[in-house]
Amino acid sequence: MRTQVAIIGAGPAGLLLAHLLHRGGVDAVVLETRSQEYVAARIRAGILESSSVELLESAGLGDRLRAEGHEHRGIYLQMPGERHHLDFVDLTGRSVWVHGQTEVQKDLVAAGTAEVHYEVTEVGLHSLESDPYVTFVDSTGARHRLDADVIAGCDGSFGPSRAAATPAETFERVYPYSWLGILADVAPSTDELIYAWHPDGFALHSMRSETVSRLYLQVPNGTDPADWSDDRIWAELATRLGDGENGWKLTPGPITDKSVLPMRSYVQTPMRRGRLFLAGDAAHIVPPTGAKGLNLAIADVALLSSALVALLREGDSRLADRYSDDALRRVWRCTHFSWWMTTMLHASGDPFDAQLQLSQLRWVTTSTAGATGLAENYAGLPLAL
Ligand code: APR
Ligand code: PHB
Repeated sequence: MRTQVAIIGAGPAGLLLAHLLHRGGVDAVVLETRSQEYVAARIRAGILESSSVELLESAGLGDRLRAEGHEHRGIYLQMPGERHHLDFVDLTGRSVWVHGQTEVQKDLVAAGTAEVHYEVTEVGLHSLESDPYVTFVDSTGARHRLDADVIAGCDGSFGPSRAAATPAETFERVYPYSWLGILADVAPSTDELIYAWHPDGFALHSMRSETVSRLYLQVPNGTDPADWSDDRIWAELATRLGDGENGWKLTPGPITDKSVLPMRSYVQTPMRRGRLFLAGDAAHIVPPTGAKGLNLAIADVALLSSALVALLREGDSRLADRYSDDALRRVWRCTHFSWWMTTMLHASGDPFDAQLQLSQLRWVTTSTAGATGLAENYAGLPLAL
Protein backbone atom coordinates (compact mmCIF):
# COMPACT_ATOMS: atom_id res chain seq x y z
CA MET A 1 0.00 0.00 0.00
CA ARG A 2 1.13 3.55 -0.63
CA THR A 3 -0.30 6.95 0.31
CA GLN A 4 1.04 10.48 0.75
CA VAL A 5 0.22 10.80 4.47
CA ALA A 6 -0.19 7.83 6.81
CA ILE A 7 -2.27 9.03 9.76
CA ILE A 8 -2.14 7.05 13.01
CA GLY A 9 -5.38 7.50 15.01
CA ALA A 10 -8.97 8.37 14.03
CA GLY A 11 -9.78 10.79 16.84
CA PRO A 12 -10.69 14.38 15.95
CA ALA A 13 -7.05 15.21 15.10
CA GLY A 14 -6.57 12.29 12.68
CA LEU A 15 -9.96 12.52 10.98
CA LEU A 16 -9.87 16.32 10.61
CA LEU A 17 -6.33 16.16 9.23
CA ALA A 18 -7.43 13.57 6.63
CA HIS A 19 -10.39 15.79 5.70
CA LEU A 20 -8.28 18.98 5.33
CA LEU A 21 -5.62 17.12 3.31
CA HIS A 22 -8.31 15.71 1.01
CA ARG A 23 -9.60 19.24 0.39
CA GLY A 24 -6.03 20.33 -0.34
CA GLY A 25 -5.55 17.53 -2.89
CA VAL A 26 -3.33 15.28 -0.74
CA ASP A 27 -4.12 11.56 -0.16
CA ALA A 28 -4.16 10.06 3.30
CA VAL A 29 -4.91 6.70 4.94
CA VAL A 30 -5.97 6.58 8.59
CA LEU A 31 -5.22 3.60 10.87
CA GLU A 32 -7.23 3.17 14.07
CA THR A 33 -7.02 0.41 16.70
CA ARG A 34 -10.57 0.83 17.99
CA SER A 35 -13.86 0.08 16.20
CA GLN A 36 -15.78 2.80 14.37
CA GLU A 37 -18.66 2.43 16.89
CA TYR A 38 -16.35 2.84 19.90
CA VAL A 39 -14.66 5.94 18.47
CA ALA A 40 -18.01 7.53 17.57
CA ALA A 41 -19.56 6.98 21.00
CA ARG A 42 -16.63 7.99 23.24
CA ILE A 43 -17.65 10.69 25.74
CA ARG A 44 -15.32 13.67 25.58
CA ALA A 45 -15.31 17.45 26.01
CA GLY A 46 -17.85 19.71 24.40
CA ILE A 47 -16.70 23.29 23.97
CA LEU A 48 -15.51 24.80 20.68
CA GLU A 49 -13.81 28.18 20.75
CA SER A 50 -14.62 30.60 17.96
CA SER A 51 -11.51 29.94 15.85
CA SER A 52 -12.33 26.18 15.93
CA VAL A 53 -15.87 26.94 14.76
CA GLU A 54 -14.52 29.13 11.93
CA LEU A 55 -12.08 26.41 10.84
CA LEU A 56 -14.79 23.69 10.86
CA GLU A 57 -17.14 25.96 8.90
CA SER A 58 -14.51 26.83 6.30
CA ALA A 59 -13.86 23.08 5.91
CA GLY A 60 -17.55 22.46 5.14
CA LEU A 61 -18.25 20.88 8.54
CA GLY A 62 -20.39 23.65 10.06
CA ASP A 63 -23.98 22.74 9.10
CA ARG A 64 -24.95 20.52 12.02
CA LEU A 65 -22.87 22.64 14.38
CA ARG A 66 -24.92 25.73 13.46
CA ALA A 67 -28.24 23.83 13.46
CA GLU A 68 -27.83 21.70 16.60
CA GLY A 69 -24.96 23.27 18.54
CA HIS A 70 -25.54 26.11 20.98
CA GLU A 71 -23.73 29.41 21.00
CA HIS A 72 -22.82 30.69 24.46
CA ARG A 73 -21.90 34.32 25.08
CA GLY A 74 -19.79 33.41 28.12
CA ILE A 75 -19.61 31.46 31.37
CA TYR A 76 -20.56 31.88 35.02
CA LEU A 77 -17.81 31.94 37.62
CA GLN A 78 -18.92 31.50 41.20
CA MET A 79 -17.80 31.53 44.79
CA PRO A 80 -20.14 30.66 47.68
CA GLY A 81 -23.05 33.11 47.63
CA GLU A 82 -22.02 34.99 44.46
CA ARG A 83 -22.34 34.07 40.80
CA HIS A 84 -20.85 36.34 38.12
CA HIS A 85 -21.45 36.20 34.38
CA LEU A 86 -18.44 36.84 32.14
CA ASP A 87 -19.76 37.96 28.75
CA PHE A 88 -17.05 36.97 26.25
CA VAL A 89 -18.89 38.68 23.38
CA ASP A 90 -18.92 42.03 25.20
CA LEU A 91 -15.32 41.54 26.35
CA THR A 92 -13.69 40.20 23.16
CA GLY A 93 -16.34 40.06 20.41
CA ARG A 94 -16.06 36.25 20.42
CA SER A 95 -18.31 33.46 21.68
CA VAL A 96 -17.98 29.70 22.23
CA TRP A 97 -20.14 26.85 20.95
CA VAL A 98 -21.39 23.78 22.80
CA HIS A 99 -21.11 20.94 20.28
CA GLY A 100 -19.70 17.72 21.71
CA GLN A 101 -16.52 16.12 20.45
CA THR A 102 -18.71 13.09 19.69
CA GLU A 103 -20.70 15.30 17.31
CA VAL A 104 -17.55 16.67 15.62
CA GLN A 105 -16.43 13.06 15.20
CA LYS A 106 -19.79 12.09 13.63
CA ASP A 107 -19.62 15.05 11.23
CA LEU A 108 -16.14 13.99 10.13
CA VAL A 109 -17.22 10.38 9.54
CA ALA A 110 -20.32 11.59 7.65
CA ALA A 111 -18.12 13.77 5.40
CA GLY A 112 -16.66 10.48 4.17
CA THR A 113 -13.41 12.08 3.00
CA ALA A 114 -11.08 9.84 5.03
CA GLU A 115 -10.08 6.27 4.15
CA VAL A 116 -10.03 4.74 7.63
CA HIS A 117 -8.99 1.21 8.59
CA TYR A 118 -10.56 0.45 11.97
CA GLU A 119 -9.61 -2.33 14.41
CA VAL A 120 -6.02 -2.61 13.21
CA THR A 121 -3.35 -4.06 15.54
CA GLU A 122 0.44 -4.17 15.86
CA VAL A 123 0.93 -0.67 14.40
CA GLY A 124 4.66 0.02 13.91
CA LEU A 125 6.38 3.19 12.63
CA HIS A 126 9.60 2.73 10.64
CA SER A 127 12.37 4.61 8.85
CA LEU A 128 11.24 8.03 10.10
CA GLU A 129 14.25 10.00 8.84
CA SER A 130 13.82 9.19 5.13
CA ASP A 131 11.36 6.79 3.41
CA PRO A 132 8.86 6.23 6.21
CA TYR A 133 6.39 3.36 6.38
CA VAL A 134 3.91 1.89 8.81
CA THR A 135 3.28 -1.80 9.40
CA PHE A 136 0.00 -3.11 10.79
CA VAL A 137 -2.36 -6.07 10.92
CA ASP A 138 -5.88 -5.40 9.61
CA SER A 139 -9.16 -6.56 11.16
CA THR A 140 -9.05 -9.83 9.14
CA GLY A 141 -5.57 -10.66 10.43
CA ALA A 142 -3.72 -9.76 7.20
CA ARG A 143 -0.33 -8.00 7.55
CA HIS A 144 0.33 -4.78 5.59
CA ARG A 145 3.09 -2.32 4.90
CA LEU A 146 1.89 1.23 4.18
CA ASP A 147 4.55 3.43 2.54
CA ALA A 148 4.08 7.20 2.81
CA ASP A 149 5.83 10.52 2.25
CA VAL A 150 4.94 11.60 5.76
CA ILE A 151 3.47 9.99 8.92
CA ALA A 152 1.11 12.01 11.12
CA GLY A 153 0.99 10.78 14.73
CA CYS A 154 -2.58 11.56 15.87
CA ASP A 155 -2.87 8.57 18.20
CA GLY A 156 -3.40 10.33 21.52
CA SER A 157 -1.41 9.89 24.71
CA PHE A 158 -1.29 6.07 24.62
CA GLY A 159 -0.36 5.54 20.95
CA PRO A 160 3.09 4.62 19.60
CA SER A 161 3.86 7.97 17.83
CA ARG A 162 4.82 9.88 20.97
CA ALA A 163 7.58 7.37 21.83
CA ALA A 164 8.69 7.22 18.17
CA ALA A 165 9.16 11.03 18.06
CA THR A 166 12.26 10.93 20.27
CA PRO A 167 14.77 12.18 21.25
CA ALA A 168 12.44 14.75 22.77
CA GLU A 169 12.09 16.97 25.77
CA THR A 170 9.02 16.34 27.93
CA PHE A 171 7.33 18.67 30.40
CA GLU A 172 4.76 17.36 32.86
CA ARG A 173 2.59 18.39 35.80
CA VAL A 174 0.36 15.90 37.60
CA TYR A 175 -2.36 17.56 39.69
CA PRO A 176 -3.27 16.20 43.13
CA TYR A 177 -6.97 15.78 42.25
CA SER A 178 -9.27 14.24 39.62
CA TRP A 179 -12.76 14.89 38.23
CA LEU A 180 -15.75 12.66 38.75
CA GLY A 181 -17.83 13.29 35.60
CA ILE A 182 -21.47 12.36 35.05
CA LEU A 183 -23.87 12.46 32.12
CA ALA A 184 -27.50 12.83 33.16
CA ASP A 185 -30.79 12.68 31.27
CA VAL A 186 -32.05 15.99 32.59
CA ALA A 187 -32.36 19.47 31.13
CA PRO A 188 -29.42 21.67 32.20
CA SER A 189 -30.26 23.86 35.21
CA THR A 190 -28.31 26.72 33.60
CA ASP A 191 -28.17 28.47 30.23
CA GLU A 192 -24.35 28.69 30.22
CA LEU A 193 -21.57 26.75 31.98
CA ILE A 194 -21.03 27.32 35.71
CA TYR A 195 -17.46 27.02 37.05
CA ALA A 196 -17.77 26.92 40.85
CA TRP A 197 -15.07 27.46 43.46
CA HIS A 198 -16.06 25.83 46.76
CA PRO A 199 -14.10 25.00 49.94
CA ASP A 200 -15.13 21.32 49.51
CA GLY A 201 -13.75 21.32 45.95
CA PHE A 202 -14.46 22.53 42.43
CA ALA A 203 -17.70 21.77 40.56
CA LEU A 204 -18.67 22.38 36.93
CA HIS A 205 -22.13 22.39 35.38
CA SER A 206 -21.85 21.76 31.63
CA MET A 207 -24.27 20.31 29.09
CA ARG A 208 -24.60 18.38 25.85
CA SER A 209 -28.13 19.32 24.68
CA GLU A 210 -31.52 20.59 25.90
CA THR A 211 -32.11 17.21 27.55
CA VAL A 212 -28.62 16.02 28.56
CA SER A 213 -26.45 17.58 31.28
CA ARG A 214 -22.75 16.99 31.94
CA LEU A 215 -21.46 17.78 35.44
CA TYR A 216 -18.18 17.34 37.27
CA LEU A 217 -16.93 17.24 40.87
CA GLN A 218 -13.36 17.57 42.09
CA VAL A 219 -12.46 14.29 43.87
CA PRO A 220 -9.20 12.90 45.30
CA ASN A 221 -6.89 10.96 42.97
CA GLY A 222 -7.63 7.24 43.06
CA THR A 223 -11.38 7.76 43.65
CA ASP A 224 -13.54 4.75 42.70
CA PRO A 225 -16.77 5.93 41.00
CA ALA A 226 -18.54 2.99 42.70
CA ASP A 227 -18.09 4.86 46.02
CA TRP A 228 -20.28 7.66 44.69
CA SER A 229 -23.99 6.78 44.65
CA ASP A 230 -26.25 8.91 42.46
CA ASP A 231 -27.75 10.53 45.57
CA ARG A 232 -24.31 11.38 46.97
CA ILE A 233 -23.27 12.95 43.64
CA TRP A 234 -26.39 15.12 43.38
CA ALA A 235 -26.13 16.20 47.02
CA GLU A 236 -22.49 17.23 46.58
CA LEU A 237 -23.26 19.04 43.31
CA ALA A 238 -26.12 20.88 45.02
CA THR A 239 -23.80 22.06 47.81
CA ARG A 240 -20.92 23.14 45.61
CA LEU A 241 -23.04 24.71 42.85
CA GLY A 242 -25.13 26.66 45.38
CA ASP A 243 -28.59 25.05 45.10
CA GLY A 244 -31.03 27.39 46.83
CA GLU A 245 -28.73 30.43 46.70
CA ASN A 246 -30.33 33.55 45.20
CA GLY A 247 -33.32 31.50 44.00
CA TRP A 248 -31.29 29.10 41.82
CA LYS A 249 -32.24 25.39 41.75
CA LEU A 250 -30.22 22.38 40.56
CA THR A 251 -32.56 19.77 39.08
CA PRO A 252 -31.24 16.21 39.46
CA GLY A 253 -32.05 13.39 37.00
CA PRO A 254 -31.09 9.85 35.98
CA ILE A 255 -27.31 9.42 35.70
CA THR A 256 -26.36 7.46 32.54
CA ASP A 257 -22.57 7.52 32.86
CA LYS A 258 -20.05 7.99 35.68
CA SER A 259 -16.28 8.14 35.26
CA VAL A 260 -13.14 9.52 36.94
CA LEU A 261 -10.70 11.66 34.91
CA PRO A 262 -7.15 12.28 36.12
CA MET A 263 -5.77 15.81 35.61
CA ARG A 264 -2.43 16.25 33.89
CA SER A 265 -0.47 18.76 31.82
CA TYR A 266 2.07 17.29 29.38
CA VAL A 267 4.02 18.73 26.43
CA GLN A 268 6.55 16.90 24.26
CA THR A 269 8.91 18.94 22.07
CA PRO A 270 9.67 19.08 19.22
CA MET A 271 6.38 17.90 17.70
CA ARG A 272 8.34 16.30 14.88
CA ARG A 273 11.03 13.76 14.18
CA GLY A 274 12.19 13.56 10.56
CA ARG A 275 9.11 12.65 8.52
CA LEU A 276 6.89 12.01 11.59
CA PHE A 277 4.73 14.94 12.77
CA LEU A 278 2.72 14.84 16.02
CA ALA A 279 -0.68 16.51 16.46
CA GLY A 280 -3.28 16.66 19.26
CA ASP A 281 -3.07 14.57 22.42
CA ALA A 282 -0.11 12.63 20.96
CA ALA A 283 2.01 15.74 21.62
CA HIS A 284 0.27 17.42 24.57
CA ILE A 285 -2.35 16.94 27.28
CA VAL A 286 -4.12 19.71 29.19
CA PRO A 287 -6.37 19.37 32.23
CA PRO A 288 -10.00 19.87 31.12
CA THR A 289 -10.65 23.04 33.18
CA GLY A 290 -9.91 25.42 30.30
CA ALA A 291 -11.81 23.31 27.70
CA LYS A 292 -8.75 23.38 25.42
CA GLY A 293 -7.95 19.73 24.48
CA LEU A 294 -10.16 19.49 21.40
CA ASN A 295 -9.44 23.08 20.35
CA LEU A 296 -5.69 22.48 20.49
CA ALA A 297 -6.05 19.34 18.36
CA ILE A 298 -8.01 21.38 15.79
CA ALA A 299 -5.41 24.19 15.81
CA ASP A 300 -2.53 21.71 15.33
CA VAL A 301 -4.08 20.02 12.31
CA ALA A 302 -5.03 23.37 10.75
CA LEU A 303 -1.31 24.27 10.76
CA LEU A 304 -0.15 20.77 9.84
CA SER A 305 -2.54 20.36 6.89
CA SER A 306 -1.35 23.65 5.30
CA ALA A 307 2.27 22.62 5.89
CA LEU A 308 1.79 19.19 4.35
CA VAL A 309 -0.13 20.49 1.33
CA ALA A 310 2.72 22.96 0.62
CA LEU A 311 5.32 20.22 1.15
CA LEU A 312 3.68 17.46 -0.87
CA ARG A 313 2.10 19.48 -3.70
CA GLU A 314 4.69 22.23 -4.20
CA GLY A 315 7.81 20.77 -2.61
CA ASP A 316 7.87 23.80 -0.30
CA SER A 317 9.14 22.70 3.13
CA ARG A 318 9.08 26.08 4.89
CA LEU A 319 5.80 25.60 6.79
CA ALA A 320 6.66 21.98 7.64
CA ASP A 321 10.00 23.12 9.06
CA ARG A 322 8.22 25.71 11.22
CA TYR A 323 5.29 23.48 12.21
CA SER A 324 6.57 22.45 15.64
CA ASP A 325 7.59 25.98 16.69
CA ASP A 326 4.36 27.48 15.33
CA ALA A 327 2.12 24.90 17.01
CA LEU A 328 3.98 25.07 20.33
CA ARG A 329 3.29 28.79 20.78
CA ARG A 330 -0.43 28.03 21.04
CA VAL A 331 0.18 24.80 22.96
CA TRP A 332 2.10 26.66 25.69
CA ARG A 333 -0.47 29.49 25.83
CA CYS A 334 -3.25 26.92 26.36
CA THR A 335 -1.09 24.90 28.76
CA HIS A 336 -0.66 28.02 30.85
CA PHE A 337 -4.34 28.96 30.66
CA SER A 338 -5.49 25.43 31.61
CA TRP A 339 -3.02 25.34 34.52
CA TRP A 340 -4.17 28.80 35.64
CA MET A 341 -7.90 27.93 35.53
CA THR A 342 -7.18 24.62 37.27
CA THR A 343 -5.12 26.05 40.11
CA MET A 344 -7.50 29.01 40.57
CA LEU A 345 -10.57 26.80 40.98
CA HIS A 346 -9.54 23.56 42.77
CA ALA A 347 -9.28 23.17 46.54
CA SER A 348 -5.73 22.20 47.50
CA GLY A 349 -6.33 21.90 51.23
CA ASP A 350 -3.96 24.83 51.92
CA PRO A 351 -5.70 27.90 53.46
CA PHE A 352 -3.12 30.28 51.91
CA ASP A 353 -3.92 28.89 48.44
CA ALA A 354 -7.63 29.33 49.12
CA GLN A 355 -7.24 33.03 49.93
CA LEU A 356 -5.13 33.60 46.81
CA GLN A 357 -7.75 31.82 44.71
CA LEU A 358 -10.59 33.92 46.12
CA SER A 359 -8.61 37.10 45.56
CA GLN A 360 -7.86 36.08 41.97
CA LEU A 361 -11.53 35.19 41.36
CA ARG A 362 -12.64 38.56 42.76
CA TRP A 363 -10.21 40.31 40.40
CA VAL A 364 -11.37 38.29 37.37
CA THR A 365 -15.05 38.91 38.16
CA THR A 366 -14.82 42.61 39.01
CA SER A 367 -12.07 44.05 36.83
CA THR A 368 -12.61 44.43 33.08
CA ALA A 369 -8.89 43.79 32.53
CA GLY A 370 -9.04 40.55 34.56
CA ALA A 371 -12.24 39.36 32.87
CA THR A 372 -10.93 40.19 29.40
CA GLY A 373 -7.80 38.12 29.98
CA LEU A 374 -9.86 35.07 30.86
CA ALA A 375 -12.32 35.68 28.01
CA GLU A 376 -9.59 36.12 25.42
CA ASN A 377 -7.94 32.84 26.39
CA TYR A 378 -11.20 30.88 26.71
CA ALA A 379 -12.99 32.07 23.58
CA GLY A 380 -10.80 34.31 21.58
CA LEU A 381 -7.41 32.84 20.68
CA PRO A 382 -6.59 32.96 16.99
CA LEU A 383 -5.68 29.59 15.39
CA ALA A 384 -2.05 30.63 14.91
CA LEU A 385 -0.28 32.66 17.60
N1 APR B 1 -2.75 2.74 16.28
C1 APR B 1 -3.77 3.45 15.74
N2 APR B 1 -4.58 4.25 16.47
C2 APR B 1 -4.33 4.35 17.78
C3 APR B 1 -3.27 3.66 18.41
C4 APR B 1 -2.46 2.83 17.60
N3 APR B 1 -1.46 2.10 18.13
N4 APR B 1 -3.29 3.98 19.72
C5 APR B 1 -4.31 4.83 19.91
N5 APR B 1 -4.96 5.06 18.74
C6 APR B 1 -6.14 5.88 18.51
C7 APR B 1 -7.10 5.95 19.67
O1 APR B 1 -7.94 4.80 19.72
C8 APR B 1 -7.89 7.20 19.34
O2 APR B 1 -9.03 6.95 18.55
O3 APR B 1 -5.75 7.22 18.31
C9 APR B 1 -6.91 8.06 18.55
C10 APR B 1 -6.48 9.31 19.29
O4 APR B 1 -7.62 10.13 19.43
P1 APR B 1 -7.86 11.11 20.67
O5 APR B 1 -7.43 10.44 21.92
O6 APR B 1 -9.26 11.58 20.57
O7 APR B 1 -6.84 12.31 20.44
P2 APR B 1 -6.89 13.54 19.41
O8 APR B 1 -7.46 13.13 18.10
O9 APR B 1 -5.55 14.15 19.50
O10 APR B 1 -7.96 14.51 20.02
C11 APR B 1 -7.71 15.29 21.14
O11 APR B 1 -9.29 14.19 22.47
O12 APR B 1 -8.57 13.39 24.54
C12 APR B 1 -9.36 14.30 23.88
O13 APR B 1 -9.49 16.17 25.28
C13 APR B 1 -8.83 15.64 24.19
O14 APR B 1 -10.43 16.78 23.05
C14 APR B 1 -9.09 16.36 22.96
C15 APR B 1 -9.00 15.42 21.86
C1 PHB C 1 -17.61 19.37 29.11
O1 PHB C 1 -18.72 19.76 28.74
O2 PHB C 1 -17.32 18.15 29.11
C2 PHB C 1 -16.62 20.35 29.57
C3 PHB C 1 -16.89 21.70 29.46
C4 PHB C 1 -15.98 22.63 29.90
C5 PHB C 1 -14.80 22.21 30.48
C6 PHB C 1 -14.51 20.86 30.59
C7 PHB C 1 -15.43 19.92 30.15
O3 PHB C 1 -13.91 23.14 30.94
